[in-house]
Formats: sequence, C-alpha cells, structure tokens
Amino acid sequence: MRRRDFVQVSLAVAAHAVLQMPAAQAAVPSRRIPYGSAVRGDALVDDYDYRTALAEHCQLVVPEGGLKWEVVRPSEDRFDFYEGDKLLAFADQNGMKMRGHTLIWHGAMPGWTSSIHGAKAAEKAMSKHIHTVVGQYKGRIPSWDVINEAIADDPRGSDHLRPNLWFENMGKGYIETAFRRASEADPQVQLVINEYDIECVGETYKNRRNALLRVVRDLRDRGAPIHAVGFQGHLKGQYEIDKEGVSSFVAELKAMDVDVLVTELDVIDNLLPADEKERDQVIAGRVTDLLQAISDANPPTAILTWGITDRYTWVPMWFTRDDGRLNRPLPLDRDYKAKPMMDAIKRFAARA
Ligand code: XIL
Repeated sequence: MRRRDFVQVSLAVAAHAVLQMPAAQAAVPSRRIPYGSAVRGDALVDDYDYRTALAEHCQLVVPEGGLKWEVVRPSEDRFDFYEGDKLLAFADQNGMKMRGHTLIWHGAMPGWTSSIHGAKAAEKAMSKHIHTVVGQYKGRIPSWDVINEAIADDPRGSDHLRPNLWFENMGKGYIETAFRRASEADPQVQLVINEYDIECVGETYKNRRNALLRVVRDLRDRGAPIHAVGFQGHLKGQYEIDKEGVSSFVAELKAMDVDVLVTELDVIDNLLPADEKERDQVIAGRVTDLLQAISDANPPTAILTWGITDRYTWVPMWFTRDDGRLNRPLPLDRDYKAKPMMDAIKRFAARA
C-alpha cells in the first residue's frame, strides 16, 4: 500500500475508533467558545492517544506547520495539500472545524521565494498563493490567519512593520492586498491578523499593541476586509498579563467591529519554579488572566492552544530549562492527563 493510502485508511480507522468514544461536543451547549489545538501531521498518524485526546477535547484544529509555504509550495508551480487535506479529513470525521494558518508570514518560506523581486512579481506570487490555497478550502475552512507577525519586534514611530519579502517588494500595502485576495477567494471566511507579544506588562508589549491597532485602523479606514485580531498567546510565564492594556485594546477593536480570538496559547515556563504543582498553578493563572482580560471587553470567538500535550510542543526548541526539567506549557501533560491549564480554558469556554 502507498504511504498516503495507508495514512488515509489508518486515519479513517482511527477516526472510527475515536467516534465510539463519548463525543465531547455532543453534550456541549452551542453558545460556548470553541476550544482547539494546533496539530502535528506526523503525530496524528503515529499516535493513537494523541488522536483520542484531540477528539475528546477539541472542537477546532489548526495545522502547526502543514499549511505554511514551505510545506504547501515545494516549488513555484506546485501546491501540495496533503497535510491540509489529512487534517481536514480528521476534523470532518470527528465533528470539528479547522482553521487555516498561515498565508503571509516571514517564517517557513521555501528557498525559491528569494528569487521573487519587484512589486509586480511579489503581488502576482501573493495573489496566486492566496487565491489557490484559500480557494482549495473554500467553504471548508471558516477562519484564516491571513497575516502573521507583521509588527516589528520593537516597533518605533513609523518604523512599526517587520521587514519581509512582501514589505520589501510591495511596501506596507502588502497587508491590505493579502486581505483583499483572501476575501476574493472565499468571502465567507473570518480573516485574521495574528500577532505575538501583545499580552504582557511592559513597554514593548504596549508599543506592539499600539502598532497593531494602527495597522488594523488603517485597514478599516481603507475598507479592507479584516474581521479579527489573533492573540497568539505564547505567554512568557514570568511576566504578568497587562489586564488593563489587553482589555482596552480589545475594546478599541470592538469599537471598530473587529473580533478577537486566541490562536496559539501556551505558557513558556523555562523561568518558572521547578516544582510542577506550583508551576502548573502559575501557568493556569496566566491563562485565566489573559482570557478574563479579553472577555471583560469582548469574549474571544475561539481559544486555541499551540498543541494539546506537553509531549508535542515547540517550546523546548527555544526555551529549555537550565535545571534539565521538561517544559509543561500545554493543557495536557505528557501522559495526556489534564492539568489546571485545561480546567482554566474549559471554565472560560463554557461560560461564554
Ligand atoms: C512553529 C511550530 O510550532 C514549529 O514546530 C516550527 O518549527 C516553527 O513554527 N508563531 C507562529 C507559529 O505563528 O507558526 C510558530 O509555529 C510558532 C510561533
């Protein structure tokens, strides 16, 4: 059997098996905030317990890497939807929705894109990508991260956008163009601008919120189709959430009729206490503070964590602990046992 056929069959079998389990979403009131997780395509195939946990807890999934350019665009003329299709099949079989991540980002770009030069060529490449990818899933992916991480690390004055291929070739209008192309491809989709480091106390966080607000306001003024801001929510556990700052930011967005959602929640715990119980409490506290601060102004349309189990998390790629203990940034531990972070999320999801 070809690997792809094998994968389809095993996923179908797996989906059937997990459907025998009490379906979490069946008993859930419809007004709750959907909870979901980023999913790794390899673990989805290889790990039965992982599929089971996703099916039990999630109403939403998003591919952690499977819809990024480096996966979808092996070459200029090829589109590869294998990973996206695989996760969408799993979502369909388990009564979940899938989000799209991400159309325009400086990261995960295949090498061949460095030969894109000039405004015309860049706009053509952007339009082809967005039309094809959003078009492929028209009517099947209800929410897309159109722009990811557009704000400079440390924005100052008019220098508030991060340099990337699109900005360098098309100028700041690249953001508006991307939203318009996505809306053309599927007018029904929630179109999101997604950003990190906008949650905590500190000057840089505040400047980043203000810079993002400016971008969103500009898009609105120009009549561009933008519907929501995504808080990535990669929270640095050692910092407090800026509750007032977050609430007033969300209120300003609401006044422009722009929703919010949490797209990539995890708590980076390399500088938190060693004791696991204590660490888990701090983590749940940060999550509660963020969700409360957002909800005080406007409840999020969705809450997604960047993975569901500490077994599969990107955090140790950058934030290992000096004491050699493993990171615990996600709602389930390595054995799929729920931690206080999961309870905190579920409390919020239920009380919408
Ligand atoms: C990360 C993935 O989790 C890693 O596995 C991958 O190697 C790099 O990208 N912000 C984002 C996500 O928007 O796409 C990133 O995902 C994490 C930071």
